[in-house]
Amino acid sequence: MPPSLAVDLAPGHKTGLALRNPVMTASGTFSWGFEFAKQFDINALGAVVSKGVTIAPRAGNQQPRVAETPAGMLNSIGLQNVGLDEVITELAPKWAKWDVPVIVNVAGDTIDEFGEMAAALDGLPGIAALELNISCPNVDIGGIEIGQDPEASARATRAAVRNTDLPVIVKLTPNVTDPVKLALAVEAEGAAAICAINTVLGLAIDTKRRRPVLPRARGGLSGPAIKPVALRIVYDVAKAVRVPVIGCGGIRTGEDAIEFLMAGASAVQVGTATFADPRAPLDVLDGIEAWCAREGVEDLREIIGCALPAPV
Ligand code: SIN
Repeated sequence: MPPSLAVDLAPGHKTGLALRNPVMTASGTFSWGFEFAKQFDINALGAVVSKGVTIAPRAGNQQPRVAETPAGMLNSIGLQNVGLDEVITELAPKWAKWDVPVIVNVAGDTIDEFGEMAAALDGLPGIAALELNISCPNVDIGGIEIGQDPEASARATRAAVRNTDLPVIVKLTPNVTDPVKLALAVEAEGAAAICAINTVLGLAIDTKRRRPVLPRARGGLSGPAIKPVALRIVYDVAKAVRVPVIGCGGIRTGEDAIEFLMAGASAVQVGTATFADPRAPLDVLDGIEAWCAREGVEDLREIIGCALPAPV
């Protein structure tokens, strides 16, 4: 018997967010999904998360936008995307033909824009949930400007939750002293689940030019370099909240994913690994299945949070 890998990321919510397995893509690393759907059966994934969407289309930041680092990469894309109207009219109808939940990552410039976008996406066939991007480090307004402040994070969550019946996931920044405060603030406003983490602020210097590599100097670090940071935050957040936590940060293998599940994540997002191998999320899924078979785990839920301290 293959192990049961099904998870629900919004168990108390009216629609729920049922995934056939816990492997999701990470926003910004899978575009809108269509190129990947030509490479493999996209319906094998637990869920697809879109690139961050803003109300108006965006061209993104000046090049170069990426820099390789030891065990990772820096990005400063600047939320390049096609804009909300195209998502509604062109992309969602295509997603509706897939048999995998698609979660739209929404990036408001302001609190009100989170409400506006949630209302516009509410009830559209092809969209299973929203992921609030209050953690992009590469824009002047919105992003971590909102997500580093628990009060602003709470207000953005409230604005979205009040304007949609879709489950609202909130993606946290690690670039704060205490991510647990953010998690508790967004949970209190109705976040159905919490995704931890977005990228870690970093910098690379071009020694020839004697300048930062990226035009905005700072970028977001992702990949295996941040896995221990992400695991620590998932562990701390999972101890504190009751809603499901989604782990994200440096996951490349089934064993990586199992670590996140044991630390309290109910699902995982595979991101940077996809740049090296578009099939990386499927390899992670195969690795989880193989691990469960080896360890005699019949239902993945047996191990979710097993490394957390026992409740007192
Ligand atoms: C970007 O578009 O700059 C990255 C998005 C993010 O970090 O959320």
